[in-house]
Amino acid sequence: MKRNFEADGMTVDPLVPETGSQSASTTPSPAARAAEVAATVARAAIDQADYAMRNWTDPVEGPVRAGSPEHLRMFCNMLLQTHNPYKPAVIDWPKLSPEALERVTSLPIWDIAVQTEGRASIRVHSFARLQRDPLLRSALEMDGDEEARHKVVLAKLVEAYGIQLEPEPEYLPPSDIEWGWLVTGYSECIDSFAAFGLFAAAKDSGYFPAELVETFEPVIQEEGRHILFFVNWVAWYRASLPWWRRPAFAFKVFRVWLFLIRERIGLARQIEVDEHGGAQDANFPMNAAETLADSLTPGSMIDLCLVENDRRMAGYDARLLRPTTVPKLARFARRFVK
Ligand SMILES: [Fe+2]
Ligand SMILES: [Fe+2]
Repeated sequence: MKRNFEADGMTVDPLVPETGSQSASTTPSPAARAAEVAATVARAAIDQADYAMRNWTDPVEGPVRAGSPEHLRMFCNMLLQTHNPYKPAVIDWPKLSPEALERVTSLPIWDIAVQTEGRASIRVHSFARLQRDPLLRSALEMDGDEEARHKVVLAKLVEAYGIQLEPEPEYLPPSDIEWGWLVTGYSECIDSFAAFGLFAAAKDSGYFPAELVETFEPVIQEEGRHILFFVNWVAWYRASLPWWRRPAFAFKVFRVWLFLIRERIGLARQIEVDEHGGAQDANFPMNAAETLADSLTPGSMIDLCLVENDRRMAGYDARLLRPTTVPKLARFARRFVK
């Protein structure tokens, strides 16, 4: 979204010349000068929003105990205050060469990606409506709105490059709303970790044009914020439960992991989409990995995911908990793959 998006009512037009690009023999008209100034101001606003979404520290100093009201306030404020106000409607999708266009349109992920975002949005919004704490509810609403915005970004990309999509299913709220939230949260912990590495691989290899990668960059960082928010919510919620409810919650989390692992080792491909509608989510990083990471060994791909995970999490308050399960599993797996 860096090339052209609206921030605070201003639209950056990449065709507006940079300062100094005017011919020495002509004096720019007042209108051209004004357009240049407006473009410079808009670019600065975009850079500022981009920085703000990646870097956040709570101004209140001192230790924060997981599960405390301060912890809740901190992880909610992290999400709310790092929101990037880009508008998908004005994204300037870069023109692609015929080869790059072929690579983009032939990726088998677009239906799954659009539907995953639609499903995530309804699940997160459903969970938001259950919350009594107003700050937590607004943070969850923002999370759900960002998922809905991802879906719009993808829809715009699909439209811009002429990709044909299957008709979308109806997105229904899950019957067990907390289950839906946990499945979405832990799915994102797995998928985002993989996406961090795949995205860097796509960028470094030049498989996709740099401009397209850059245009998509904020979506990936947003998923990083979401998993940071999610793991802090889990820790806060677990700690705030009375002792006698914790085993049931731990068992539910265990069942969610089993469900997700089963999906990701491919057993879910043999069964119908289950009642929670999550079976398709698992295929997104797998399909993308097959297509994008051919040139990397599995071991170097895991290394890249770990490095990127640390980099994307580095800018947020060190007192917030970090996602650890997937990186730990990846480090363990790394011992056995080259
Ligand atoms: Fe998303
Ligand atoms: Fe997300």
